[in-house]
Amino acid sequence: MQNNPRVAEVLARVTQAAHEVVRDLQVTEDEWRQALQFVRNVVEADEVVLLSDVLGLSVLVDEITHRTNGATASNVEGPFYRPGAPLHESPALICRRDEPGEPLIVTGMVRGQGGDPLPRAIIDVWHTALNGLYDVQDDDQPEWNCRGRVRADGAGRYEFRTVVPVSYGIPSDGPVGALLRAAGRTGYRPAHIHYKVTAEGHRSLTTMVFFMGDKWLDQDAIGAVKSELVRTLENGEDGCRQLTFDVTLVPHVARSDRPVSPPAVAAIG
Ligand code: BEZ
Ligand code: FE
Repeated sequence: MQNNPRVAEVLARVTQAAHEVVRDLQVTEDEWRQALQFVRNVVEADEVVLLSDVLGLSVLVDEITHRTNGATASNVEGPFYRPGAPLHESPALICRRDEPGEPLIVTGMVRGQGGDPLPRAIIDVWHTALNGLYDVQDDDQPEWNCRGRVRADGAGRYEFRTVVPVSYGIPSDGPVGALLRAAGRTGYRPAHIHYKVTAEGHRSLTTMVFFMGDKWLDQDAIGAVKSELVRTLENGEDGCRQLTFDVTLVPHVARSDRPVSPPAVAAIG
């Protein structure tokens, strides 16, 4: 690799921070050997991204990269996105007709900067079933269960029917799970629905919506909860819960247009 001042700066800062930890906590040779073995185990178990997630670094880097004035707040994609989900016209059904759980109707608008509706925007959503598992983790769910792409109507409005997702534990059978247990952390995520929204001429947005009152909101294992992405689930007349989530996209613009305010740091559980 050629000499790169950015790499030199990052290496110097990481070295400085690591030395501070080792010196302040008087880390011993035996502890350091265990730390190095942990890193080897993480690589071997293919949990490098999961480690970045539980350290809160994935969310921080997402915030720095995608923070955009005027757009709905972004969030990380996570490991359970699958491209190419079935495409439905709105209103859509994205789970089985007899899906266990509380029926939920989600509605919203996709708008551009200035509030103009974005007709025929595509809203790609995915979430867990009642057992806390995504379809890709669970042989008992049909393919594409609790996920789908919904095309907004000519007025930018979308609607889909599903069930209320539940909070769930992130993968815990590998070295990252062992680390969390050793540190007394729980490894739970509050219930959420993932969104990836695209519309012609606009920057696509990846985010999540959370639900008010969830007991894990303040202790998300990956620190992804942002107050502007938390919504109240209302009780509908027909026994369905109802959620409204509007999305604002911004046009494709030069990167120099990005804002400069520092990101907030979310709580990690
Ligand atoms: C998720 O939200 O699907 C997720 C994100 C990071 C780690 C594990 C799960
Ligand atoms: Fe998720």
